[in-house]
Amino acid sequence: MTTAAPTVTDDLDPFRVEHLDDPYPLYAALRDRGPAVHLPDRDVWLVSTYSAVSEVLRNYKQFRSGLGTSYIRVADSGFRFPFIDNDPPEHTRIRRSVQGRFHRAEVEKMTTAVRGFVREVCSSPLAEGAADVTTIAKALPNLTIRDLTGVTAPDTDRMAAWADAVFHVLGPDFEPRHMDLTLESLDWLATTGVLDLPMRSLGREILDNGGCAGGLHEGQERLFALASIWIAGIDTTNALINILFDAFARHPEQWAALRADRSLIPAAVEEALRWDAPIRMFLRRTVDPVDLQGVTIPADADVVAIFPAANRDPLAFTDPDSFDITARRRNKHLSFGASIHLCLGAPVARLEATELLSHLADHVGRFEFVAEPVRAKSRVIRNFESLPIRFVRG
Ligand code: HEM
Repeated sequence: MTTAAPTVTDDLDPFRVEHLDDPYPLYAALRDRGPAVHLPDRDVWLVSTYSAVSEVLRNYKQFRSGLGTSYIRVADSGFRFPFIDNDPPEHTRIRRSVQGRFHRAEVEKMTTAVRGFVREVCSSPLAEGAADVTTIAKALPNLTIRDLTGVTAPDTDRMAAWADAVFHVLGPDFEPRHMDLTLESLDWLATTGVLDLPMRSLGREILDNGGCAGGLHEGQERLFALASIWIAGIDTTNALINILFDAFARHPEQWAALRADRSLIPAAVEEALRWDAPIRMFLRRTVDPVDLQGVTIPADADVVAIFPAANRDPLAFTDPDSFDITARRRNKHLSFGASIHLCLGAPVARLEATELLSHLADHVGRFEFVAEPVRAKSRVIRNFESLPIRFVRG
């Protein structure tokens, strides 16, 4: 038997500014209301339990991406990002065109370069003994994505501002300047960024051949495929790097465990992704009514899949609020999504994070906050505006 989705009042609106710094009590309240609830003020269905978010992501025939995965529908914004905003068979063709470049073995070829970038971005912060580590978090993805795509952004801060703006535009309540910066970034890529791409770069492969396997249509689709990879790899990994610093500064015993056993590094990256997911949500849309675990989601509905809420679901993870790199978690976190839209760049993000942790483990005994961290206010990315950290040797 199915029932209509229960309704929640706007005090349970996860996009309200007062919930952005610490959304976890709100997520727990949403999970308690069931797999899906309706928020009439924004006319969206909020999905927050682990099993329901997994189901929404896996049932891609009924919970569609092709009408848009951002807060504004493709039909209203005019933007269609080729990977995230398509369903099969279009999505399958587009993803296959570049998938080969993101296989683990291919990405591992970037290890030496990424190791060098880690040294470069950590060198003066470590020498000085303290830094606002958001500078490291901005710089490392910028160098890595340049290496991958061949696109050289004007500078690190500009690139970070563009990527931040694009993710604001994917969510509700963004400011006009975010749209201006998004358009500026796409215009810059189309007119300047694509000039002089190195011969063997992913950017050249996409623009000249339609990806390593071919298949991308000439023109706008190729440009937007490149733009998607270029932008998607910046603010997301930036947030993950800050989350790693924040997590280990709050949990020195976990850092000590990692330093004592470096084989824990991959698990530490996954646990940080679970404990504080860099992306708060993506949307799906229904065409027909769908039963989601006993709740009827009507036709033509906007469905918000809240990844960090799923990752802290006590029915899926034991002691979910704790950050424990030694816990062998029964389920996988959903921070990279799941199923056909599973993050294409996950191996790249994992490489950056593992190289960073292993370099820091060689040099830092403990992280201490120099001042209270300040969270950024994006409705989509869970990042920091400032994160001043002291590196204690030992
Ligand atoms: C910690 C860093 C990252 C996080 C948390 C993250 C998260 C995600 C999530 C949740 C999705 C699924 C979207 C959906 O289901 O609608 C996704 C898709 C995607 N990501 Fe990432 N991402 C990260 C890094 C990267 C990097 C480094 C790249 C590129 C080098 C990248 C490129 C993409 C692309 C192209 C897609 C679309 C895949 C598809 O729709 O088939 N991401 N990412």
